[in-house]
Amino acid sequence: MKKIAVYASNIGVAKGVCEKIAPQLGIEKVVDVKDFALKDLQDFDKILLVVSTHVVGEIQKDFNAQIDDFKDLDLTDKTVALVTLGNGVTNSDTFNDALGELYDICEDCDATLVGHSDPSEYTYDNTASIRNGVFPGLALDVDNEAHLTDSRIEKWLETGVKSAF
Ligand SMILES: Cc1cc2nc3c(=O)[nH]c(=O)nc-3n(C[C@H](O)[C@H](O)[C@H](O)COP(=O)(O)O)c2cc1C
Repeated sequence: MKKIAVYASNIGVAKGVCEKIAPQLGIEKVVDVKDFALKDLQDFDKILLVVSTHVVGEIQKDFNAQIDDFKDLDLTDKTVALVTLGNGVTNSDTFNDALGELYDICEDCDATLVGHSDPSEYTYDNTASIRNGVFPGLALDVDNEAHLTDSRIEKWLETGVKSAF
């Protein structure tokens, strides 16, 4: 069973979160998307993606630079768990928008997506990331609610993530 965690981070917040979660899922290979070709994700069975939201609701730039490669990716029978970072105060209208976009992209690749979090447990005005009434992954706001990060990770791990990895 090949496992990988890929993070996309501007100043290291997503990196730190990725390094915290990966061992809890038995993932030893943790890479910066700058050093990894996303088209190679299909060589792995269990995939953790940790990506921050930037510039008005967009996926972090280094990840976005390779986003077109998902068009040719087949993630059938691959388990994917998503974590995104956002800021519910300074970016309250595009809160964690990267999550919904990542979810749609991975779903188009036929990935088996696992894990969710409850949008009512966060402080923000708007988000484009609600799917079927939930955040389809772990949304985090380390900038304003760092004290909730560990408990949010713990809760999310129990929404089918730990058992799937
Ligand atoms: C220029 C800039 C734009 C941002 N845009 C958004 C946004 O649209 N939505 C959001 O939820 N967070 C936004 N954020 C907040 C970041 O996602 C958050 O600070 C995150 O923790 C950064 O993680 P990183 O250091 O791993 O990139 C933005 C931050 C910056 C600096």
